[in-house]
Amino acid sequence: MKAARLHTYSDLSNIKIESVVKPEPGPNEVLIRVVSASINPLDIKLVTGSLHGFFPLSFPYTLGTDLAGIVEQSGPLAARWRPGDKVIARADPRQGGAFAEYVVVPATHITSAPTCLTLEEGSALPTVAGVAWQALFDVANLKSGQTILIHAGAGGVGSLAIQLARIADTRVIATASSSHINLVRQLGADDVIDYKVEDFSDRLRDVDVVLDTVGGDTQQKSFTVLHSGGFLASVISPPDEALAKAHKVTASFVFHETDSTRLNLIAGLCDAGSLQAVIDRKFPLAETRAAMSYLMEGHARGKVLLVP
Ligand SMILES: NC(=O)c1ccc[n+]([C@@H]2O[C@H](COP(=O)([O-])OP(=O)(O)OC[C@H]3O[C@@H](n4cnc5c(N)ncnc54)[C@H](OP(=O)(O)O)[C@@H]3O)[C@@H](O)[C@H]2O)c1
Repeated sequence: MKAARLHTYSDLSNIKIESVVKPEPGPNEVLIRVVSASINPLDIKLVTGSLHGFFPLSFPYTLGTDLAGIVEQSGPLAARWRPGDKVIARADPRQGGAFAEYVVVPATHITSAPTCLTLEEGSALPTVAGVAWQALFDVANLKSGQTILIHAGAGGVGSLAIQLARIADTRVIATASSSHINLVRQLGADDVIDYKVEDFSDRLRDVDVVLDTVGGDTQQKSFTVLHSGGFLASVISPPDEALAKAHKVTASFVFHETDSTRLNLIAGLCDAGSLQAVIDRKFPLAETRAAMSYLMEGHARGKVLLVP
């Protein structure tokens, strides 16, 4: 089968499409024929080795974490998944494997694909929907009636976070550049700030929750828009504790943990018509480097897909 592989920490130029042996599932694992994979900024950080401390890779390494596809074969302890089942899944980043024609994934990292989405759309969900849910509901404890500021509302995480916050009956403010303002409104933002022409921290006060998907100055300024007792959840970096104390807010770093129960709830929201996947564009697997370079530019509108 074809797979996008890496032989050492590097830059994107060293990703190669190679012919490799189709993997076989272990007792708790499932072999999936990949119909579509989606790229996360994480996949790019893994290539460079900047996350070696969290996710040490063994080489050769097949890239890719998020995918959707069709079950081919299950290990004896994963028989709940039957050949032909349509699934979405997140491979462990240390194992990777999604940017290939077939992947083996632990049974606990798999969820039935939403029936109302295509498998391409389904592949866009696992990491971004999972971490958005985790940040909003498990960490920041977002409640109906509250106001949330979501940075980078047109990005992978932001586009899902807006929809989840809307479902939770909150007032949603998002940042985006001019070309993405209509999209972000259509996803459910009540108010959009064009971050290229206006500083959000000049306009906003008394926000209950900020979801930081940008970091740096954006994270620092986000403290100033929260009321005392507010919550800053960052998926980028651990927030400054001294600043949190000075502003009398709680601030936490959110690190995505794969949870198939949560992903199942997310799939249910898709089937109920409450949640959509936003797809920017798709590339063939042979163009993995170009697809990752495009995402690395930092201006994707939702998700970038790779199709074997
Ligand atoms: N901690 C975790 O477990 C976890 C999980 C998932 C993601 N992440 C991290 O979260 C970050 C975002 O991920 P993602 O998948 O959403 O990325 P993404 O899809 O690549 O984000 C692209 C979006 O960011 C917007 N953007 C860029 N700079 C901005 C700024 N200064 N203010 C507002 N919007 C800005 C762009 O909008 P315009 O084109 O309009 O500029 C674009 O729509 C990444 O660093 C990723 O590694 C962490």
